[in-house]
Amino acid sequence: MYANSRTVASVQQAPHPRLAASVRRHLETDWRRPPAAHSVQAFDALRACIEAAPRPLVLDAGCGTGASTLRLAELHADCWVIGVDKSAARLAAGARALATAGAPRNALLVRAELADFWRLAHAAGWRLRRQYLLYPNPWPKPAQLARRWHAHPAFAALLALGGMLELRCNWRVYADEFARALDVAGIAANVEAFVPAGPLTPFERKYAASGHALWRVGARLDTNTVAEG
Ligand SMILES: C[S@@+](CC[C@H](N)C(=O)[O-])C[C@H]1O[C@@H](n2cnc3c(N)ncnc32)[C@H](O)[C@@H]1O
Repeated sequence: MYANSRTVASVQQAPHPRLAASVRRHLETDWRRPPAAHSVQAFDALRACIEAAPRPLVLDAGCGTGASTLRLAELHADCWVIGVDKSAARLAAGARALATAGAPRNALLVRAELADFWRLAHAAGWRLRRQYLLYPNPWPKPAQLARRWHAHPAFAALLALGGMLELRCNWRVYADEFARALDVAGIAANVEAFVPAGPLTPFERKYAASGHALWRVGARLDTNTVAEG
């Protein structure tokens, strides 16, 4: 694959000065924007499928083509592994891979807005065994802070879903901010540089081949420490 991907460029070289205040505000405030109808429809269909054959749940949030969802489904064979993305084109590639012989039968791909999905899952009382956020869009301009997931109003719902959380990214500032946001929520997190043994996602493969430093944040979520949002 291509090995010429640019590293994230930003005038922001450290966690945003307004990060902690922004996270606190979101954790303390109800976010009332109604979910999109297509997200509700997709979630209801998924929920029916899962309730028909309950298993522990693993979420691959922002799964892109779903390559990581399929791999995670092999690694967590006793779980439903749910890949969620808003891109119909990327998910179509995943659906083709899912339809091939030998594809894991416990992988599910869903087209939805992630912010809606986290809230709908929380409202449905779901608890996750694991959550992966693999290479989310970095939104590197300082003015884009609110678009980063840890500074988004949906962060409270993500945290409330629980489980082991793993974020991977190629911008250290994002990893440090994510860990700081978890700290604001009362959750201990570990940030480390890592070299993937075998790339889990297409973006990871591209970034690793381009020589980028990769960062990983791990945390065990505990809903007792998270304010309802
Ligand atoms: C940089 S790509 C990473 C894809 C994949 N995880 C990988 O590592 O190859 C980010 C993905 O997040 C998805 N995404 C961004 N914002 C989203 C949102 N609000 N709801 C759902 N998916 C979103 C994009 O469509 C894209 O597929």
